[in-house]
Amino acid sequence: MAKILVVFHSITGHTMDLAKAVAEGVRKAGGNVTVKRVEETIPERVLEKNPGYVRIKEELKSFEIAEVEELPEYDGIVFGSPTRFGNMSAQMKTFLDKTGSLWVKRSLSGKVAGVFQTNEMLHGGKEATLISMLFPLFAHGMIIVGLPPVRELYQAGSYYGATSTGTPDMRDMEMARLLGERVAEIAERVKGYSESGEIN
Ligand SMILES: Cc1cc2nc3c(=O)[nH]c(=O)nc-3n(C[C@H](O)[C@H](O)[C@H](O)COP(=O)(O)O)c2cc1C
Repeated sequence: MAKILVVFHSITGHTMDLAKAVAEGVRKAGGNVTVKRVEETIPERVLEKNPGYVRIKEELKSFEIAEVEELPEYDGIVFGSPTRFGNMSAQMKTFLDKTGSLWVKRSLSGKVAGVFQTNEMLHGGKEATLISMLFPLFAHGMIIVGLPPVRELYQAGSYYGATSTGTPDMRDMEMARLLGERVAEIAERVKGYSESGEIN
């Protein structure tokens, strides 16, 4: 059974909802899934001014904060971020920037990875966000998995990962499930594959 981590950043819950759908997909494929969030850097007194945050904060806080040191324990990792000015959030970027020591040891090489995002505008930087999240994952030597080539791609999701515009609708959730399913299935097949050794 492949061990999969779904790690997300979210403030008003859209990305958290997609993370839950990705996790459902992992379970459907028989994977063992853990869902965690990245550390928040915005002070609580600022977040509290956002009604969207106040509405979901209890549920959000029910997810443990992921530590980069635990990443090598998983066979696959799915990363989710809201779009911030056409890019991933600084909170997710900070999390990824903390993985330098794992890069040196090639600890994530050969593991399977996928990405998902949410934003507000139809053309507000969806694919730019997804692709920017992939750069560090390729650098780690991870095996990148996008969405399968299904008909629903005409309406939801992207080649590069799962998406939503605002609150995820049923189609967005279904594409996120497909992503989780695919990551779990491929992680099960390539489990144990790695190119070990330190990068000098
Ligand atoms: C500082 C900031 C920058 C944002 N930049 C964009 C953007 O470039 N394009 C866009 O469509 N939405 C943008 N958004 C909207 C969020 O991406 C969107 O509300 C997202 O779904 C929030 O995710 P969450 O509910 O998981 O926190 C921005 C929001 C904030 C606060």
